[in-house]
Amino acid sequence: MIDKIKQHLNEVELFTTQSLKELEEFKNKFLSKKKGILTEFFAEFKNIPKEEKKEYGQVLNQLKNKVEEKIKTLKEEIENKSFSDTKLDLTLPGPYLTLGSKHPVNVVIEEITQIFEKMGYIAIHTNEIEDDWHNFSALNFPPEHPARDMQDTFFIEKNPDVVLRTHTSNGQIRYMENHKPPIKIVIPGRTFRNEDISARSHFMFHQIEGLYVDENVSFVDLKQTLMHFAKEFYGEHTKVRFRPSYFPFTEPSAEMDVTCSLCGGEGCKVCKYTGWLEVLGCGMVDPNVLTNVGIDPNKYSGFAFGMGIERTAMLRYGIKDIRYFFENDLRFLSQFNNI
Ligand code: DAH
Repeated sequence: MIDKIKQHLNEVELFTTQSLKELEEFKNKFLSKKKGILTEFFAEFKNIPKEEKKEYGQVLNQLKNKVEEKIKTLKEEIENKSFSDTKLDLTLPGPYLTLGSKHPVNVVIEEITQIFEKMGYIAIHTNEIEDDWHNFSALNFPPEHPARDMQDTFFIEKNPDVVLRTHTSNGQIRYMENHKPPIKIVIPGRTFRNEDISARSHFMFHQIEGLYVDENVSFVDLKQTLMHFAKEFYGEHTKVRFRPSYFPFTEPSAEMDVTCSLCGGEGCKVCKYTGWLEVLGCGMVDPNVLTNVGIDPNKYSGFAFGMGIERTAMLRYGIKDIRYFFENDLRFLSQFNNI
């Protein structure tokens, strides 16, 4: 018996092949659960005389290890060979990755943010899901005040109210609660209002908010800052005008118009032949708002502004329908490849 095993040891030693099929046959011959040679030898173990058992076991294990080792090395050899045999041309260039393009909403956000960063503002991001205090009350919207109806709110929970923020102005409160003046921030982000979807309005859109609070900030600072922004963003010949308006969190409040960037103020379809485009809301931060966040309104004053990003992008690129921004249609998006 032991001699037989030794013969197999020799056979295994000498075995070689380059075919996976032959290797499989070799494996079956020795290891098959039913009639593999090793299986049979192991089954024989109980019939071996006691004094031979030790040697028998040792030689048999040796054979088993050899078979396994052989299978492993031959398998690796065959696989490596078949890889190096395939005609790979490693000098060929790899497949080209097509580059995507920036979304026009992000292009506009980045550009506006950069203009303000050059004036020392920093960009921050705050909550999209908001409580009543940060979205309304701290911004001087009294409970039941009709100004709340101006912003058709999505409620996530009632009593206490949890809402999807209706504007980025919530970021003013979030930031001022934790920072002392001087404060110079812009807050870009998503906002939500329960509005029907049409070419002009959507329930989800973007705004960018700005806030400057320090000692002696005046309406002159507001005007100069926003005039500078308008020239940087809409072109150096752009003129601005301010019209009185109302927002609960600013007093006085204004809306800023710029000369139509498409017709240069001559009058066209986009500006409805007025020569002016309405681009943002702004004003001096209401002293109540400063008090609400623990900033002394006798010492500090500030201005704030907010504008819609999609609207700005629509004016800039002549886009006629706000829905294009959110449909992920590559025919639309790939037009912004080069900007
Ligand atoms: N939050 C206003 C809106 O959504 C926009 C706005 C107006 C923001 C005046 C301001 C501001 O910071 O001073 O309509």
